Amino acid sequence: MNLVSTKTIAIAIDGPAAAGKSTVAKIVAGKLSYIYIDTGAMYRALTLQAMLEHIPLDDEALLVQLLQRIDIKLKQDKNGQLILVDGTDVTSEIRSQNVTNNVSFVAKHSNIRKEMVNRQQTLAAERGVVMDGRDIGTHVIPDAEVKIFLVATVEERAKRRYEENVKKGFQPNIEELKKEIEQRDFIDSKREAAPLIQAVDAIEIDTTSLSINDVAQRILDRVKEVTHSL
Ligand code: C5P
Repeated sequence: MNLVSTKTIAIAIDGPAAAGKSTVAKIVAGKLSYIYIDTGAMYRALTLQAMLEHIPLDDEALLVQLLQRIDIKLKQDKNGQLILVDGTDVTSEIRSQNVTNNVSFVAKHSNIRKEMVNRQQTLAAERGVVMDGRDIGTHVIPDAEVKIFLVATVEERAKRRYEENVKKGFQPNIEELKKEIEQRDFIDSKREAAPLIQAVDAIEIDTTSLSINDVAQRILDRVKEVTHSL
C-alpha cells in the first residue's frame, strides 16, 4: 500500500462501546507508523486505582486529587501498548468486568475530563497520532484532519465482545454483555460533560457488516485523500 506522505496528521476515532475502535485504530496507526493513543485506557486506569483505594466513584474532588497524584503512562511494547500506573503494568486489570462496569461513572465528572483532555492534547500536539475515545473529534482534537465515528448494532457489538472473551478462555453471557454495553453507552451519551456524540465533520462508518480490514481500509483511503490535498 502506498501511503507515503510527508504530512503527518491527527486521526480521531470515536464511537460507542465495542464498536471496534481500538482494533481499527491500531491497524491504521501501524500502517502509517503513527502513534496509537487509547484514551479509554486512561479513564480505565484511574477507575482501577480509585477502586483499589476505595475512593467513592461519585466523589469528584477525591478522584481529581487521585488523578493528580498518580502517573498514568501508555507505553509502546513489542507486544502492543502497555498501561502503567506509577510504573505498575495494569494492562489486563483495566479490562476486568469490574472496571468496565464502573469506568463511565468516573468519566462523567467534568474536572476529571478537563485534566484527561489536557494530557491527551499534549500527547497529540505533534500530530502523527491515531486517538480513539468518545470525545476526540469534539473536544480533544477538534481540528483533527480526519474524524471517524464508528457505529454498529448493539447485537453485533455484543457478539464481537463475546467472541473476544471466548478466545481469552472466559465463558461470557452474551445477554449480560449486551446489557453492559447498553448501560455504558447510555451513561456516556447522557452525561453533561462532553457526551458521546458524532462531530459534525466526522465520517460515520457502520461496521455491522464490514470486516475490520475493510473499515481500516476506508479510513486509510480517507487519510490518503486528505494528505494529498494538504
Ligand atoms: O474505549 P473504552 O471502552 O475502553 O472506554 C472506557 C470508558 O471510558 C468509556 O465507556 C467512557 O466512559 C470513557 N471514555 C470517555 N472518553 C474517552 C474515552 C473513554 O469518556 N475519550
